[in-house]
Amino acid sequence: MAPIVDIHTHVYPPKYMDLLRSRTTVPYVRNFPDAPDSSRLIILPGEDDPSMPSTSRGRPIGSEYFDIKEKIAFMDQHKIDKSVISLANPWLDFLPAEEAGQKAIEINDDVNEQCGLYPGRLYFFGTLPLSADADTIVKEIERLSTLKYARGVILGTSGLGSGLDDPALDPVYAALSKHNQLIFLHPHYGLPNSVYGPRVGDYGHVLHLAMGFPLETTIAVTRMLLSGVWDRHTGLNVLLAHSGGTLPFLAGRIESCILHDGHLKAHGKTQNRRDVWDILKTNIYLDAVIYSEVGLNAAVEASGADRLLFGTDHPFFPPLEEDAKEWHSVNANYGAISKAFANSDEKAQGVLGGNAVRILRLED
Ligand code: URA
Ligand code: ZN
Repeated sequence: MAPIVDIHTHVYPPKYMDLLRSRTTVPYVRNFPDAPDSSRLIILPGEDDPSMPSTSRGRPIGSEYFDIKEKIAFMDQHKIDKSVISLANPWLDFLPAEEAGQKAIEINDDVNEQCGLYPGRLYFFGTLPLSADADTIVKEIERLSTLKYARGVILGTSGLGSGLDDPALDPVYAALSKHNQLIFLHPHYGLPNSVYGPRVGDYGHVLHLAMGFPLETTIAVTRMLLSGVWDRHTGLNVLLAHSGGTLPFLAGRIESCILHDGHLKAHGKTQNRRDVWDILKTNIYLDAVIYSEVGLNAAVEASGADRLLFGTDHPFFPPLEEDAKEWHSVNANYGAISKAFANSDEKAQGVLGGNAVRILRLED
């Protein structure tokens, strides 16, 4: 039996919590005067609207977000043998350039040390100082490749400030390819608030998390494709959060739009290029955090069962009942895998952990 491996699971390590608690603008952690005993995590754009009561701003944050013992307890509860933990959004995107390099070092060391407390059970995706210059970022990639438990980097979609199709990212992509470090691409910013309409406040976080997040990922990865990132960096591997956003479902449409675009044709960009299907099967891995076998089947069709990896998104999406022990969100992902692979235990084992062990070098 392959071990069960969770590759989509977040932490805010102590050094990052200190940073969030020291801030008063998004992102920050704060105890508001009307509920002084409970901390709130305010990270998403628009979450600190002063017209909202403080008790519905952001979300409550407890020790499950930063205490590594709680991660292990959650893993034990849900039969997860190994986790590849990553800093949760919005990473270091918001830091001034001159602070980012040093903070990345402190936070990556902090997380590497926490992994060392549970050898064989914890690995991590490092964080890059993206607001710094490319040299500082490349240095951190090189340093990460020497940290015992690092297995790649988590990246948002903003890149150096103008997205992942920015040619200035070439040295970063080259360094990641050279050191065989995978990018775990994860959304944070969603779509412009105007898309959600004036009644967005009535709908909790649903539109942002269920629609904004996956579309943000889909657009970011399509921009990478259109700008030829994988034509220049043929060995660059990217693990897409949430089963690729909507990429598996939209890949055919993306390809068709490319092939019917007069502007691209006139610039010779419809030929001699790697198409989305090739990249989905060669450079892209997809997590299995989609909560239904319908989405999971699309992911399998697009990238193959050997490129799909189980995840939970812990500590986000906890059960809302106070006394619940098992997480519905986790069981939905387990259930989708067992339904999608009812006819192939071997494939199920791969998705649950075998693929992660192979791709991320997690052998004991
Ligand atoms: N909400 C977030 O802000 N991040 C996640 O990863 C999941 C839910
Ligand atoms: Zn996540």
